[in-house]
Amino acid sequence: MPTEQMPTEQMPKEQIPNQRHYRIVALPGEGIGPEVVEATATILRALADQAGFTLTIDYALIGMPAQQAFGTSLPSETLQICEGSDGILFGAVTQGGLLELRKHFDLFTNLRPVRPSPSLLSASPIKADRLNHVDLLFVRELVSGIYFGEAGRERQQQNAYGFHTMRYADEEIRRIARVALQQAQTRRQHLTVAHKENALPHLPWSRLVASEAEAFPAVTVEPMLVDNLAMQLVSRPGDFDVVLAGNLFGDILSDLGGAIAGSIGLLGSASLNADGFGMYEAVHGTAPDIAGKGIANPLGTLAGATLMLKQWGEKQTAETLITIRENMLAQGYRTHDLRPAADTTASAGQPLKIVTTSEVVDFFITQIQARSQPCKGQE
Ligand code: NAI
Ligand code: MG
Repeated sequence: MPTEQMPTEQMPKEQIPNQRHYRIVALPGEGIGPEVVEATATILRALADQAGFTLTIDYALIGMPAQQAFGTSLPSETLQICEGSDGILFGAVTQGGLLELRKHFDLFTNLRPVRPSPSLLSASPIKADRLNHVDLLFVRELVSGIYFGEAGRERQQQNAYGFHTMRYADEEIRRIARVALQQAQTRRQHLTVAHKENALPHLPWSRLVASEAEAFPAVTVEPMLVDNLAMQLVSRPGDFDVVLAGNLFGDILSDLGGAIAGSIGLLGSASLNADGFGMYEAVHGTAPDIAGKGIANPLGTLAGATLMLKQWGEKQTAETLITIRENMLAQGYRTHDLRPAADTTASAGQPLKIVTTSEVVDFFITQIQARSQPCKGQE
Protein backbone atom coordinates (compact mmCIF):
# COMPACT_ATOMS: atom_id res chain seq x y z
CA MET A 1 0.00 0.00 0.00
CA PRO A 2 1.29 3.52 -0.61
CA THR A 3 3.10 4.82 2.47
CA GLU A 4 3.52 8.34 3.80
CA GLN A 5 5.87 10.74 2.01
CA MET A 6 9.61 10.57 2.92
CA PRO A 7 12.73 11.33 0.87
CA THR A 8 13.37 8.37 -1.40
CA GLU A 9 17.07 7.97 -0.48
CA GLN A 10 16.26 7.38 3.20
CA MET A 11 13.77 4.66 2.53
CA PRO A 12 13.97 0.93 2.02
CA LYS A 13 12.85 -0.21 -1.41
CA GLU A 14 9.29 -0.99 -0.36
CA GLN A 15 8.63 2.54 0.91
CA ILE A 16 9.12 4.52 -2.28
CA PRO A 17 6.22 7.00 -2.47
CA ASN A 18 3.35 5.97 -4.74
CA GLN A 19 4.63 2.44 -4.93
CA ARG A 20 2.12 -0.12 -3.78
CA HIS A 21 3.33 -2.59 -1.21
CA TYR A 22 1.70 -5.83 -0.18
CA ARG A 23 2.53 -8.33 2.52
CA ILE A 24 1.20 -11.84 2.13
CA VAL A 25 1.55 -14.91 4.31
CA ALA A 26 2.33 -18.25 2.70
CA LEU A 27 0.94 -21.28 4.55
CA PRO A 28 2.36 -24.17 2.50
CA GLY A 29 0.93 -27.00 4.64
CA GLU A 30 1.49 -30.57 3.50
CA GLY A 31 1.81 -32.88 0.50
CA ILE A 32 2.06 -30.90 -2.73
CA GLY A 33 1.07 -27.72 -0.80
CA PRO A 34 4.70 -26.52 -0.36
CA GLU A 35 5.50 -27.29 -4.02
CA VAL A 36 2.60 -25.33 -5.53
CA VAL A 37 2.87 -22.47 -3.01
CA GLU A 38 6.59 -22.00 -3.70
CA ALA A 39 5.99 -22.13 -7.46
CA THR A 40 3.33 -19.43 -7.10
CA ALA A 41 5.46 -17.32 -4.73
CA THR A 42 8.37 -17.40 -7.23
CA ILE A 43 6.07 -16.25 -10.04
CA LEU A 44 4.51 -13.53 -7.87
CA ARG A 45 7.94 -12.14 -6.93
CA ALA A 46 8.92 -11.89 -10.59
CA LEU A 47 5.56 -10.35 -11.42
CA ALA A 48 5.79 -7.71 -8.68
CA ASP A 49 9.01 -6.33 -10.18
CA GLN A 50 7.34 -5.91 -13.55
CA ALA A 51 4.00 -4.65 -12.23
CA GLY A 52 5.37 -1.84 -10.10
CA PHE A 53 4.52 -3.06 -6.63
CA THR A 54 6.65 -4.58 -3.92
CA LEU A 55 5.79 -7.79 -2.20
CA THR A 56 6.83 -9.30 1.12
CA ILE A 57 6.09 -12.97 1.62
CA ASP A 58 6.14 -14.26 5.20
CA TYR A 59 5.89 -17.97 5.95
CA ALA A 60 4.06 -19.78 8.74
CA LEU A 61 3.07 -23.32 9.68
CA ILE A 62 -0.31 -25.02 9.46
CA GLY A 63 -1.48 -28.62 9.53
CA MET A 64 0.90 -31.48 10.27
CA PRO A 65 4.13 -29.39 10.29
CA ALA A 66 2.51 -27.05 12.85
CA GLN A 67 1.31 -30.02 14.87
CA GLN A 68 4.88 -31.32 15.01
CA ALA A 69 6.43 -27.95 15.91
CA PHE A 70 3.76 -26.47 18.19
CA GLY A 71 1.49 -29.36 19.16
CA THR A 72 -1.47 -27.75 17.37
CA SER A 73 -2.39 -27.53 13.69
CA LEU A 74 -3.22 -23.81 13.86
CA PRO A 75 -0.78 -22.16 16.32
CA SER A 76 -1.43 -18.64 17.62
CA GLU A 77 1.98 -17.68 16.10
CA THR A 78 0.53 -18.42 12.65
CA LEU A 79 -2.60 -16.35 13.30
CA GLN A 80 -0.45 -13.45 14.52
CA ILE A 81 1.63 -13.44 11.33
CA CYS A 82 -1.57 -13.47 9.24
CA GLU A 83 -3.13 -10.55 11.14
CA GLY A 84 -2.78 -7.30 9.25
CA SER A 85 -1.46 -8.95 6.09
CA ASP A 86 -2.92 -8.33 2.62
CA GLY A 87 -3.79 -11.97 2.09
CA ILE A 88 -2.97 -15.58 2.82
CA LEU A 89 -1.60 -17.92 0.16
CA PHE A 90 -2.58 -21.39 1.25
CA GLY A 91 -1.27 -24.79 0.10
CA ALA A 92 -3.11 -27.82 1.42
CA VAL A 93 -3.50 -29.86 4.61
CA THR A 94 -4.75 -33.37 5.27
CA GLN A 95 -6.85 -32.32 8.22
CA GLY A 96 -6.74 -29.80 11.04
CA GLY A 97 -6.16 -26.07 10.86
CA LEU A 98 -8.12 -25.11 7.78
CA LEU A 99 -11.67 -24.90 9.18
CA GLU A 100 -10.32 -23.08 12.23
CA LEU A 101 -8.46 -20.58 10.02
CA ARG A 102 -11.61 -19.87 7.98
CA LYS A 103 -13.60 -19.40 11.16
CA HIS A 104 -10.99 -17.21 12.84
CA PHE A 105 -11.02 -14.65 10.02
CA ASP A 106 -14.76 -15.17 9.33
CA LEU A 107 -13.99 -16.03 5.69
CA PHE A 108 -17.64 -16.72 4.95
CA THR A 109 -17.47 -16.18 1.18
CA ASN A 110 -15.80 -18.77 -1.00
CA LEU A 111 -15.56 -17.83 -4.68
CA ARG A 112 -14.65 -20.57 -7.17
CA PRO A 113 -14.67 -19.49 -10.80
CA VAL A 114 -14.67 -22.12 -13.55
CA ARG A 115 -13.87 -21.09 -17.09
CA PRO A 116 -12.39 -23.91 -19.18
CA SER A 117 -9.30 -23.01 -21.19
CA PRO A 118 -9.94 -23.13 -24.96
CA SER A 119 -6.77 -25.26 -25.23
CA LEU A 120 -8.04 -27.87 -22.77
CA LEU A 121 -11.52 -28.64 -24.05
CA SER A 122 -10.44 -32.16 -24.93
CA ALA A 123 -9.12 -32.70 -21.36
CA SER A 124 -12.66 -32.50 -19.96
CA PRO A 125 -14.88 -35.58 -19.86
CA ILE A 126 -17.69 -33.27 -21.01
CA LYS A 127 -18.20 -32.90 -24.75
CA ALA A 128 -16.30 -29.89 -26.14
CA ASP A 129 -19.40 -28.35 -27.77
CA ARG A 130 -21.00 -28.02 -24.32
CA LEU A 131 -17.93 -26.30 -22.84
CA ASN A 132 -17.48 -23.41 -25.26
CA HIS A 133 -19.48 -20.87 -23.29
CA VAL A 134 -18.91 -22.13 -19.77
CA ASP A 135 -18.19 -19.28 -17.36
CA LEU A 136 -19.33 -20.36 -13.92
CA LEU A 137 -18.86 -18.85 -10.50
CA PHE A 138 -19.56 -20.99 -7.46
CA VAL A 139 -20.31 -18.95 -4.33
CA ARG A 140 -20.06 -21.24 -1.32
CA GLU A 141 -20.85 -20.34 2.30
CA LEU A 142 -17.70 -21.30 4.20
CA VAL A 143 -17.98 -20.82 7.95
CA SER A 144 -21.28 -22.38 8.96
CA GLY A 145 -23.58 -25.29 8.15
CA ILE A 146 -22.85 -28.93 8.82
CA TYR A 147 -19.05 -28.55 9.06
CA PHE A 148 -19.50 -26.32 12.11
CA GLY A 149 -22.72 -27.63 13.72
CA GLU A 150 -23.07 -29.72 16.84
CA ALA A 151 -21.46 -33.10 16.24
CA GLY A 152 -20.46 -36.21 18.10
CA ARG A 153 -20.36 -39.93 18.51
CA GLU A 154 -22.40 -41.55 21.24
CA ARG A 155 -23.60 -44.91 22.33
CA GLN A 156 -27.05 -45.99 23.49
CA GLN A 157 -27.04 -49.50 24.96
CA GLN A 158 -25.33 -51.61 22.26
CA ASN A 159 -25.79 -49.10 19.42
CA ALA A 160 -23.09 -46.60 18.51
CA TYR A 161 -24.14 -43.62 16.42
CA GLY A 162 -22.76 -40.37 15.09
CA PHE A 163 -24.25 -37.04 14.13
CA HIS A 164 -23.41 -33.72 12.47
CA THR A 165 -25.89 -30.87 12.51
CA MET A 166 -26.59 -28.63 9.54
CA ARG A 167 -27.44 -25.38 11.26
CA TYR A 168 -27.74 -21.99 9.56
CA ALA A 169 -28.84 -18.69 11.07
CA ASP A 170 -31.10 -16.86 8.60
CA GLU A 171 -28.65 -13.96 8.60
CA GLU A 172 -25.78 -16.29 7.61
CA ILE A 173 -27.81 -17.30 4.54
CA ARG A 174 -28.80 -13.71 3.84
CA ARG A 175 -25.23 -12.36 3.95
CA ILE A 176 -23.84 -14.95 1.51
CA ALA A 177 -26.93 -14.39 -0.67
CA ARG A 178 -26.07 -10.68 -0.89
CA VAL A 179 -22.52 -11.53 -2.04
CA ALA A 180 -23.83 -13.95 -4.68
CA LEU A 181 -26.40 -11.41 -5.89
CA GLN A 182 -23.71 -8.70 -6.15
CA GLN A 183 -21.51 -11.08 -8.15
CA ALA A 184 -24.42 -12.02 -10.45
CA GLN A 185 -25.26 -8.37 -10.97
CA THR A 186 -21.77 -7.70 -12.41
CA ARG A 187 -21.87 -10.84 -14.58
CA ARG A 188 -24.77 -12.33 -16.59
CA GLN A 189 -27.42 -11.56 -13.93
CA HIS A 190 -28.42 -15.13 -13.30
CA LEU A 191 -28.23 -16.77 -9.88
CA THR A 192 -28.98 -20.44 -9.25
CA VAL A 193 -29.58 -21.35 -5.60
CA ALA A 194 -28.76 -24.90 -4.49
CA HIS A 195 -31.15 -26.14 -1.82
CA LYS A 196 -32.77 -29.32 -0.55
CA GLU A 197 -35.98 -27.96 0.90
CA ASN A 198 -38.02 -31.08 0.08
CA ALA A 199 -35.99 -32.94 2.72
CA LEU A 200 -34.62 -30.01 4.80
CA PRO A 201 -37.58 -27.58 5.03
CA HIS A 202 -36.19 -25.69 8.02
CA LEU A 203 -33.35 -24.31 5.90
CA PRO A 204 -35.37 -22.06 3.54
CA TRP A 205 -32.57 -20.90 1.21
CA SER A 206 -35.03 -20.11 -1.63
CA ARG A 207 -37.22 -17.80 0.45
CA LEU A 208 -34.32 -15.99 2.12
CA VAL A 209 -32.41 -15.45 -1.13
CA ALA A 210 -35.62 -14.23 -2.84
CA SER A 211 -36.08 -11.70 -0.06
CA GLU A 212 -32.51 -10.35 -0.47
CA ALA A 213 -32.96 -10.36 -4.27
CA GLU A 214 -35.58 -7.59 -4.00
CA ALA A 215 -32.63 -5.18 -3.81
CA PHE A 216 -31.17 -6.65 -7.03
CA PRO A 217 -34.05 -6.40 -9.54
CA ALA A 218 -31.77 -7.07 -12.54
CA VAL A 219 -30.81 -10.52 -11.24
CA THR A 220 -32.95 -13.56 -12.08
CA VAL A 221 -32.95 -16.04 -9.18
CA GLU A 222 -33.58 -19.70 -9.87
CA PRO A 223 -33.76 -22.07 -6.87
CA MET A 224 -32.90 -25.67 -7.77
CA LEU A 225 -32.86 -28.87 -5.75
CA VAL A 226 -29.18 -29.70 -5.30
CA ASP A 227 -29.41 -33.24 -6.69
CA ASN A 228 -31.07 -32.00 -9.87
CA LEU A 229 -28.56 -29.15 -10.04
CA ALA A 230 -25.64 -31.62 -9.96
CA MET A 231 -27.12 -33.37 -12.99
CA GLN A 232 -27.88 -30.12 -14.85
CA LEU A 233 -24.36 -28.78 -14.24
CA VAL A 234 -22.89 -31.79 -15.98
CA SER A 235 -25.39 -31.87 -18.84
CA ARG A 236 -25.60 -28.14 -19.64
CA PRO A 237 -22.81 -26.26 -17.77
CA GLY A 238 -22.94 -23.33 -20.21
CA ASP A 239 -26.43 -22.35 -19.02
CA PHE A 240 -25.29 -21.36 -15.53
CA ASP A 241 -23.78 -18.10 -14.31
CA VAL A 242 -23.50 -17.80 -10.50
CA VAL A 243 -24.31 -20.85 -8.37
CA LEU A 244 -24.92 -20.22 -4.66
CA ALA A 245 -24.68 -23.08 -2.17
CA GLY A 246 -24.23 -23.75 1.52
CA ASN A 247 -21.01 -25.21 2.86
CA LEU A 248 -21.62 -28.93 2.23
CA PHE A 249 -23.43 -28.66 -1.11
CA GLY A 250 -20.94 -26.02 -2.29
CA ASP A 251 -18.02 -28.28 -1.41
CA ILE A 252 -19.44 -31.11 -3.50
CA LEU A 253 -20.82 -29.09 -6.41
CA SER A 254 -17.69 -27.00 -6.88
CA ASP A 255 -15.54 -30.11 -7.35
CA LEU A 256 -17.67 -30.76 -10.44
CA GLY A 257 -15.96 -27.62 -11.71
CA GLY A 258 -12.66 -29.52 -11.68
CA ALA A 259 -14.08 -32.13 -14.04
CA ILE A 260 -15.64 -29.46 -16.25
CA ALA A 261 -12.31 -27.57 -16.49
CA GLY A 262 -10.29 -30.73 -17.19
CA SER A 263 -8.37 -31.20 -13.93
CA ILE A 264 -8.87 -30.23 -10.32
CA GLY A 265 -5.26 -29.02 -10.45
CA LEU A 266 -6.38 -26.00 -12.51
CA LEU A 267 -8.89 -24.29 -10.26
CA GLY A 268 -8.31 -21.59 -7.66
CA SER A 269 -10.51 -20.07 -5.02
CA ALA A 270 -10.77 -16.98 -2.84
CA SER A 271 -12.20 -17.06 0.68
CA LEU A 272 -13.13 -13.59 1.86
CA ASN A 273 -14.53 -11.89 4.93
CA ALA A 274 -16.76 -8.82 5.09
CA ASP A 275 -13.70 -6.51 5.05
CA GLY A 276 -12.38 -8.04 1.82
CA PHE A 277 -9.49 -9.81 3.60
CA GLY A 278 -8.91 -13.19 2.08
CA MET A 279 -7.21 -16.50 1.77
CA TYR A 280 -6.32 -17.76 -1.70
CA GLU A 281 -5.68 -21.36 -2.66
CA ALA A 282 -6.18 -24.13 -5.16
CA VAL A 283 -9.33 -26.22 -4.95
CA HIS A 284 -7.37 -29.48 -4.73
CA GLY A 285 -5.91 -31.20 -1.66
CA THR A 286 -2.49 -32.54 -0.68
CA ALA A 287 -2.36 -35.07 -3.55
CA PRO A 288 -0.25 -37.58 -1.55
CA ASP A 289 0.08 -39.82 -4.63
CA ILE A 290 2.31 -37.27 -6.40
CA ALA A 291 3.78 -35.28 -3.46
CA GLY A 292 7.57 -34.82 -3.60
CA LYS A 293 7.82 -35.79 -7.26
CA GLY A 294 8.01 -32.24 -8.59
CA ILE A 295 5.16 -32.84 -11.03
CA ALA A 296 2.24 -31.06 -9.32
CA ASN A 297 0.28 -28.62 -11.43
CA PRO A 298 0.78 -25.15 -9.88
CA LEU A 299 -1.93 -23.51 -12.02
CA GLY A 300 -4.64 -23.98 -9.36
CA THR A 301 -2.68 -22.10 -6.69
CA LEU A 302 -1.69 -19.55 -9.31
CA ALA A 303 -5.40 -19.13 -10.14
CA GLY A 304 -5.93 -18.42 -6.44
CA ALA A 305 -3.16 -15.81 -6.57
CA THR A 306 -4.84 -14.28 -9.64
CA LEU A 307 -8.00 -13.81 -7.58
CA MET A 308 -5.86 -12.15 -4.89
CA LEU A 309 -4.46 -9.66 -7.41
CA LYS A 310 -8.00 -8.88 -8.60
CA GLN A 311 -9.13 -8.41 -5.01
CA TRP A 312 -6.31 -5.87 -4.53
CA GLY A 313 -7.41 -4.02 -7.67
CA GLU A 314 -4.27 -5.14 -9.58
CA LYS A 315 -6.45 -6.17 -12.50
CA GLN A 316 -3.92 -5.70 -15.27
CA THR A 317 -1.37 -7.85 -13.46
CA ALA A 318 -4.02 -10.52 -12.94
CA GLU A 319 -4.77 -10.43 -16.68
CA THR A 320 -1.04 -10.85 -17.39
CA LEU A 321 -1.04 -14.10 -15.43
CA ILE A 322 -4.14 -15.34 -17.25
CA THR A 323 -2.62 -14.48 -20.64
CA ILE A 324 0.65 -16.30 -19.87
CA ARG A 325 -1.29 -19.32 -18.64
CA GLU A 326 -3.33 -19.45 -21.84
CA ASN A 327 -0.17 -19.02 -23.96
CA MET A 328 1.45 -21.90 -22.13
CA LEU A 329 -1.51 -24.22 -22.65
CA ALA A 330 -1.93 -23.14 -26.28
CA GLN A 331 1.76 -23.98 -26.90
CA GLY A 332 1.08 -27.52 -25.72
CA TYR A 333 2.70 -27.42 -22.25
CA ARG A 334 0.93 -29.85 -19.90
CA THR A 335 1.64 -31.06 -16.38
CA HIS A 336 1.09 -34.77 -15.94
CA ASP A 337 -2.51 -34.42 -14.66
CA LEU A 338 -3.42 -32.99 -18.08
CA ARG A 339 -1.66 -35.72 -20.03
CA PRO A 340 -4.23 -37.17 -22.43
CA ALA A 341 -4.75 -40.93 -22.47
CA ALA A 342 -4.14 -41.27 -26.21
CA ASP A 343 -4.07 -38.03 -28.21
CA THR A 344 -0.66 -36.34 -27.96
CA THR A 345 -1.34 -33.20 -29.96
CA ALA A 346 -2.64 -29.90 -28.65
CA SER A 347 -5.80 -28.48 -30.21
CA ALA A 348 -3.79 -26.51 -32.77
CA GLY A 349 -2.02 -29.68 -33.84
CA GLN A 350 1.14 -28.91 -31.83
CA PRO A 351 2.87 -31.80 -30.06
CA LEU A 352 2.28 -31.76 -26.30
CA LYS A 353 5.22 -31.11 -23.97
CA ILE A 354 4.82 -32.80 -20.58
CA VAL A 355 6.41 -30.48 -18.01
CA THR A 356 7.34 -30.47 -14.33
CA THR A 357 6.28 -27.88 -11.76
CA SER A 358 9.58 -26.00 -12.11
CA GLU A 359 9.33 -25.97 -15.91
CA VAL A 360 5.93 -24.27 -15.57
CA VAL A 361 7.54 -21.68 -13.28
CA ASP A 362 10.38 -21.16 -15.79
CA PHE A 363 7.84 -20.58 -18.57
CA PHE A 364 6.07 -17.90 -16.52
CA ILE A 365 9.31 -16.18 -15.46
CA THR A 366 10.56 -16.03 -19.04
CA GLN A 367 7.26 -14.58 -20.26
CA ILE A 368 7.10 -12.07 -17.40
CA GLN A 369 10.63 -10.88 -18.07
CA ALA A 370 9.84 -10.55 -21.77
CA ARG A 371 7.05 -8.09 -20.95
CA SER A 372 8.05 -4.71 -19.77
CA GLN A 373 4.83 -3.63 -18.16
CA PRO A 374 4.76 0.09 -17.28
CA CYS A 375 4.03 1.00 -13.67
CA LYS A 376 0.44 1.99 -13.19
CA GLY A 377 -1.77 3.12 -10.35
CA GLN A 378 -4.22 0.87 -8.62
CA GLU A 379 -7.42 0.31 -10.58
P1 NAI B 1 -6.61 -34.25 -3.97
O1 NAI B 1 -7.18 -33.03 -4.58
O2 NAI B 1 -5.48 -34.10 -3.07
O3 NAI B 1 -6.21 -35.29 -5.13
C1 NAI B 1 -7.15 -35.85 -6.05
C2 NAI B 1 -6.43 -36.31 -7.31
O4 NAI B 1 -6.07 -35.18 -8.09
C3 NAI B 1 -5.13 -37.07 -7.03
O5 NAI B 1 -4.97 -38.08 -8.01
C4 NAI B 1 -4.06 -36.02 -7.21
O6 NAI B 1 -2.82 -36.52 -7.63
C5 NAI B 1 -4.67 -35.12 -8.28
N1 NAI B 1 -4.26 -33.73 -8.10
C6 NAI B 1 -4.74 -32.86 -7.17
N2 NAI B 1 -4.11 -31.69 -7.28
C7 NAI B 1 -3.22 -31.81 -8.28
C8 NAI B 1 -2.27 -30.94 -8.86
N3 NAI B 1 -2.10 -29.67 -8.43
N4 NAI B 1 -1.50 -31.39 -9.87
C9 NAI B 1 -1.65 -32.64 -10.32
N5 NAI B 1 -2.54 -33.52 -9.82
C10 NAI B 1 -3.31 -33.12 -8.81
O7 NAI B 1 -7.83 -34.96 -3.22
P2 NAI B 1 -7.84 -36.24 -2.25
O8 NAI B 1 -6.91 -37.28 -2.76
O9 NAI B 1 -9.27 -36.56 -2.09
O10 NAI B 1 -7.33 -35.70 -0.86
C11 NAI B 1 -5.99 -35.84 -0.38
C12 NAI B 1 -5.89 -35.12 0.95
O11 NAI B 1 -6.08 -33.71 0.74
C13 NAI B 1 -6.94 -35.54 1.98
O12 NAI B 1 -6.29 -35.67 3.21
C14 NAI B 1 -7.92 -34.39 2.02
O13 NAI B 1 -8.49 -34.22 3.29
C15 NAI B 1 -7.03 -33.21 1.71
N6 NAI B 1 -7.72 -32.07 1.09
C16 NAI B 1 -7.31 -30.84 1.49
C17 NAI B 1 -7.85 -29.71 0.95
C18 NAI B 1 -7.31 -28.40 1.37
O14 NAI B 1 -6.33 -28.34 2.09
N7 NAI B 1 -7.90 -27.31 0.96
C19 NAI B 1 -8.92 -29.78 -0.06
C20 NAI B 1 -9.25 -31.13 -0.47
C21 NAI B 1 -8.67 -32.23 0.12
MG1 MG C 1 -13.77 -30.22 -1.46
